[in-house]
Amino acid sequence: MSDANPARFITLEGGEGAGKSTQARRLSEALHARGIENIVTREPGGSPGAEDIRKLLVEGEPGRWTPEIETLLMFAARVDHVARTIRPALESGAWVICDRFTDSTYAYQGAARGADADFIRRIEEATIGDFRTDLTLILDVPVEEAFGRIESRAHAENRFEKFDCAFHERLRQYFRQLAQRESERCVLIDSRGETERVSQQIWRAVASRFNL
Ligand SMILES: Nc1ncnc2c1ncn2[C@@H]1O[C@H](COP(=O)(O)OP(=O)(O)O)[C@@H](O)[C@H]1O
Ligand SMILES: [Mg+2]
Repeated sequence: MSDANPARFITLEGGEGAGKSTQARRLSEALHARGIENIVTREPGGSPGAEDIRKLLVEGEPGRWTPEIETLLMFAARVDHVARTIRPALESGAWVICDRFTDSTYAYQGAARGADADFIRRIEEATIGDFRTDLTLILDVPVEEAFGRIESRAHAENRFEKFDCAFHERLRQYFRQLAQRESERCVLIDSRGETERVSQQIWRAVASRFNL
């Protein structure tokens, strides 16, 4: 990859059932089709150690951890994921598409569960420093529509799906405000309706941001 178009780090954010995993795969295919080498990874997880930590986070009852402990576990997983998967891929020239990243910690453990944003910021600084995304796609869908999608999945994917409706509304509002606040880094994607229509919006956002 030339310096003119270096490998990029793109994340997908949004609540449960917003379509992140579906769209991460589709974006990867679209980049591959244009000859752009890339990997898809996810959080929490994305490296062997981080996947072990993921199990602590996504299994069990909603109240299993305080939001502060969750934050620490998330960043423990993240620092391993960045060091062992994300940075090596970017350094080899592959783009990285990541299903959730640090914004999810501010949204879930912070805005939705009540961990102090300054506490999260300090942990972020101590673990990944100033490592940031090149582009964050925020998939926005009404909570009821997302829940309809989740219910059609075979089994409850994780602990966070079991939190109440108000929790999911707080998440959605946080992500919508983030898109406004950090409009340089983030693009709000209307994730209602057809999968293909959502993919097209995402492709337009990626292509225009990186001159593809
Ligand atoms: N635009 C869409 N319309 C209808 N169903 C969708 C759409 N996007 C994803 N789905 C389905 O909804 C469920 C949740 O999507 P998923 O990509 O797993 O969301 P997330 O990773 O954000 O939780 C999956 O079963 C998926 O196949
Ligand atoms: Mg998913």
